[in-house]
Amino acid sequence: MKSTILIAHEYGAPDVLEYTQQTLQPLALGNARIQVKAAGINPIDARRMTGEFKHAALPQTFGTEYAGIIVEVDETQPTWKVGDEVLGSGGAFTHASVIDVPLANLVKKPQNIDWAVAGSLAGAAQTAMTIFDEMGDIQSLLVHGGSGGVGSIVVQLAVEKGIDIVATASSANQAYIEKLGATAVVYGDGLIERLKQIHPTQFDASIDLSGTEEATQAALVMVKSDGFMGTIAGKKVSSTQIRPVWVKRNLANLQHVVTGVSEGRFHWQVSREYPFEQAQSAYSDILSGHTKGKSVLIFD
Ligand SMILES: NC(=O)c1ccc[n+]([C@@H]2O[C@H](COP(=O)([O-])OP(=O)(O)OC[C@H]3O[C@@H](n4cnc5c(N)ncnc54)[C@H](OP(=O)(O)O)[C@@H]3O)[C@@H](O)[C@H]2O)c1
Repeated sequence: MKSTILIAHEYGAPDVLEYTQQTLQPLALGNARIQVKAAGINPIDARRMTGEFKHAALPQTFGTEYAGIIVEVDETQPTWKVGDEVLGSGGAFTHASVIDVPLANLVKKPQNIDWAVAGSLAGAAQTAMTIFDEMGDIQSLLVHGGSGGVGSIVVQLAVEKGIDIVATASSANQAYIEKLGATAVVYGDGLIERLKQIHPTQFDASIDLSGTEEATQAALVMVKSDGFMGTIAGKKVSSTQIRPVWVKRNLANLQHVVTGVSEGRFHWQVSREYPFEQAQSAYSDILSGHTKGKSVLIFD
């Protein structure tokens, strides 16, 4: 079986992205072969493309989440069969028409979730759940960048836990943040003063999803001295009090969000869908840093 794979032989702007056809090796034991229907795009894909992150040798492939249909499976196992609709996450290889994934990484796709939503769940969901695992018990939370892929579900998980939550976004996304259940604040000049007005007491924790110096300074002022201050942005921070957080893959965490979306308790916003053939413009848009909810590649 052949797969069309997104690949780059050098670092750079989206025009380094190409497609290559590859004949797949026989399926390994313990794996399933998936015809991909949708695959979310994350900032990490574009940041690897530019060379900001050099996680792999060139040429490199992309994509960390997917949803699709099993077309071949290790028949020695009883759980999964050809035709099952699944979603999940893996290394940097899901921006391809057919992929092989370990069975241990599969989650059943609920029937009532469409492909674009299913294909964009795994990365942001597991990142958001990791953030709460690392913060421990908190009653108030400040989120920097609440309207993107990770922020949208962080806000809703906080609401689910009964946490008092304030989230920053651009003025265009204030109503969206409020709809998700947080108090919205516009980021930019005067942020700390606006936060003090809206939330006169200090927060138990903050999480930075934007990587700005402004987020660091606001956290240092607005979070209790023994509180948790984290960042997932993977950028240099000016204070050692801001702790880096890295996503941990965890199927139970992913299932929690998938079930919540399926039952209508969480809203999952897909604001941009691109045919797989238009990956260059999808990567270009995600580099702008203003995705509302998620961006997704759609496959035939
Ligand atoms: N450490 C990890 O394991 C891990 C995992 C996942 C993601 N990440 C990183 O975390 C970051 C967020 O990921 P994501 O998928 O949520 O990104 P995303 O979907 O692109 O969202 C980014 C959000 O940041 C907001 N933003 C832009 N400029 C801002 C500013 N100056 N101050 C505050 N917010 C601002 C945007 O809101 P507006 O549109 O309203 O401006 C946008 O909604 C990325 O850097 C990504 O690479 C790290």
